[in-house]
Amino acid sequence: MSFIQINNLHVHYPVRGGFFNSVIDQVYAVDGISMEFEKGKTYGLVGESGCGKSTTGKAIIGLERITSGSIFYEGENVTNKRRSRKSAFNRDVQMIFQDSHSSLNPRKRVKDIIAEPIRNFLKLTPKEEERKISELLEIVGMPEDAKFKYPHEFSGGQKQRLGIARAIATNPKLIIADEPVSALDLSVQAQVLNFMKDIQNEFRLSYLFISHDLGVVKHMCDHISIMYKGRFVEIGTKYDIYNHPQHIYTKRLLSAIPGGSPIGREKRKRERIRVEQHYKAEHKNYFDENDRVFDLKPISKTHSVAAASISKGGK
Ligand SMILES: Nc1ncnc2c1ncn2[C@@H]1O[C@H](COP(=O)(O)OP(=O)(O)O)[C@@H](O)[C@H]1O
Ligand SMILES: [Mg+2]
Repeated sequence: MSFIQINNLHVHYPVRGGFFNSVIDQVYAVDGISMEFEKGKTYGLVGESGCGKSTTGKAIIGLERITSGSIFYEGENVTNKRRSRKSAFNRDVQMIFQDSHSSLNPRKRVKDIIAEPIRNFLKLTPKEEERKISELLEIVGMPEDAKFKYPHEFSGGQKQRLGIARAIATNPKLIIADEPVSALDLSVQAQVLNFMKDIQNEFRLSYLFISHDLGVVKHMCDHISIMYKGRFVEIGTKYDIYNHPQHIYTKRLLSAIPGGSPIGREKRKRERIRVEQHYKAEHKNYFDENDRVFDLKPISKTHSVAAASISKGGK
């Protein structure tokens, strides 16, 4: 059973211009998406830059105004309640960002940064708070004396750990991780991902893991949504998406995953050219005349594809 349901979410940004600076157009950053989250699972949200991933994440936690659609949390409609500071939803849904450098206040010491959600949501005495912060630092593998330092004294990977410590301070149920490792070196990426997996098991967290790279989310995610221009082109389990991709856009993203070995390079290049030709030839079946993605249609219990018509058997 899912504990959060997002129904037909839209976030439109007005575009202003002209002599009177009036609204002349709308950016359909998020244009009708639905998802639900179950406990302990990881959900991937993948698509190229500008497709609406961050807007989705921010709209869910209440940093962005929802144009239409609804969010239900444990059966309750919380769509317009996410801005009240002390709500259970705000305690239980936290976000970490790609750029932990700018999301950690540079003028505050680590202990005050991590204490922020604790002070908002938990009623602790100063002593208890101190203990809680030490505990959190230990969980994320940081030394006790990190408390008294400032964010700039840490490396990118360490800052990401501090962001995670802050996010888990209130024992959340869902963490929205917006490109959490995109700014890190490859070797550090793996460390942070493994570490996120570990704390997931420990706390039975769910993640909404946002990435532009299908390669990065592969080992993390149980379920994946592929986004293009504010809409989902395809949703499915990890197996559905990697082993039976249907949408031409998903296939294109898969062919763009960089491979490790030089031997396969020529082969991959040929494959990419083939995928690109397929993309052009099949375009009409996957996008309408305004390049808008069709509605999703189920092809199995777990797998849905947005297409005008779906080939028999879906394979
Ligand atoms: N505050 C804003 N005002 C107007 N347009 C915005 C705003 N934030 C994002 N956008 C636009 O919305 C679209 C989706 O942006 P975003 O959610 O940041 O994409 P992603 O995270 O997938 O790169 C983009 O076209 C972006 O330019
Ligand atoms: Mg983004």
